[in-house]
Amino acid sequence: ETGFITSDTGYKSTGATRSAITFLNGEKGILRYRGYPIEQLASQSDFLEVAYLLIYGDLPGKEELESFTHGITRHTLIHEDMKKLYEGYPEKAHPMGVLASMISALSTFYPDAHNTQLHPEQVNLTIRRLIAKSATIAAWSYRKSQGFPIMYPQNRLDYCANFLHMMFALPTEEYEINPTVVKALNTLLILHADHEQNCSTSTVRIAGSSHASLYAAISSGVCALWGPLHGGANQKVIEMLEHIRREGGDVKKMVEKAKDKDSDFRLMGFGHRVYKNFDPRAKIIKKVSDEVLNELGVDDPLLEIATSLEEVALNDSYFVDRKLYPNVDFYSGILYRAIGIPTEMFTVMFALGRLPGWIAQWKEMRDNNEPISRPRQIYVGPTERDYVPLEKR
Ligand code: SDX
Repeated sequence: ETGFITSDTGYKSTGATRSAITFLNGEKGILRYRGYPIEQLASQSDFLEVAYLLIYGDLPGKEELESFTHGITRHTLIHEDMKKLYEGYPEKAHPMGVLASMISALSTFYPDAHNTQLHPEQVNLTIRRLIAKSATIAAWSYRKSQGFPIMYPQNRLDYCANFLHMMFALPTEEYEINPTVVKALNTLLILHADHEQNCSTSTVRIAGSSHASLYAAISSGVCALWGPLHGGANQKVIEMLEHIRREGGDVKKMVEKAKDKDSDFRLMGFGHRVYKNFDPRAKIIKKVSDEVLNELGVDDPLLEIATSLEEVALNDSYFVDRKLYPNVDFYSGILYRAIGIPTEMFTVMFALGRLPGWIAQWKEMRDNNEPISRPRQIYVGPTERDYVPLEKR
């Protein structure tokens, strides 16, 4: 009943991870956080409330939410010395420079790197610091990459408004917080908040199982998210849509290219290991994108290209036979663009959204005193053989 399969050698190996956090049903397109349907959370909750739900297991009461929110708001500042980290970064280190500087910054939070004992008050403080400072690190990394002065966090603002302020406010003029943009950002972060044992979450659990600090485990999760098959896909979707637009908007050509066995090109934002009919998050993001672009008066030609690409692909037997549908990344970039988030920040936004889920999964693994992760293998290499001296090879 512990979920461990003890083999004949007494070797404790875990089968599937046992978790009470997120439920997915790939056939029916169901996603629930602690039992609450994603559709209800996306339309009625906000990001910090969902973060509390994922981490502590239930929706917070008024006081619990106020204390959690205050605990995060109070920890948004990062040490002034951290600016030297950004000073040392080349202006345009590489396309994912913001993500790289975020990983470096996170791993400098070493002070509680060795607190392998999980004192609840220490863990709760670390959780609040991590959620608070990650947003500041992300915004400062972006500002540095653009050569803009950094904007300090404002405790009077809520999480999303504060992030937008740090990202886009300029010291030379008033920055007006747009409630439509704040709500859209909340929805995007909620939809990315957790997703069961995906690649980056499994990485966080594995790294955390050695009792590395929460910061170290999260840094490893950000690294895993980076890949274009995972969190890096949202940025690749926009690059793909922009390529189609530059080439005259021929979506059929792109669909044919994705079917070509000789090319390793894939339709970015399509397909999913678990969802085999539709990704419920993609449906919500598509609907919110239509609403927000309309409300903001944004006319993004990429939305029309994305919609026609989806239509062509979903009427093509190659995609239908392989159960390839738009996933969370297919439309998220359209919505990020509409609210002003630049493409190089898309995977960083995915990391900020996924952070509460990573924390919740790490906490569950540590609270359950799970052993160090040690996946089994099936050995398919050579049987025993003798060494051959160099002169005889
Ligand atoms: C995320 O796990 C999670 O929950 C992840 C995530 C989360 O919230 O954490 O949901 C976030 O990572 C979403 C996925 C983002 N990645 C992409 O959009 C990249 C494009 N998609 C693919 O690379 C792929 O669909 C994956 C990685 C998402 C899933 O890969 P699988 O399940 O390993 O599928 P596969 O590689 O075994 O492919 C099965 C078949 C193959 O064809 P055949 O060998 O059967 O002929 O489908 C084909 C693949 O070539 N295929 C695609 C395709 N995805 C799969 N063909 C064209 N375009 C695609 N996008």
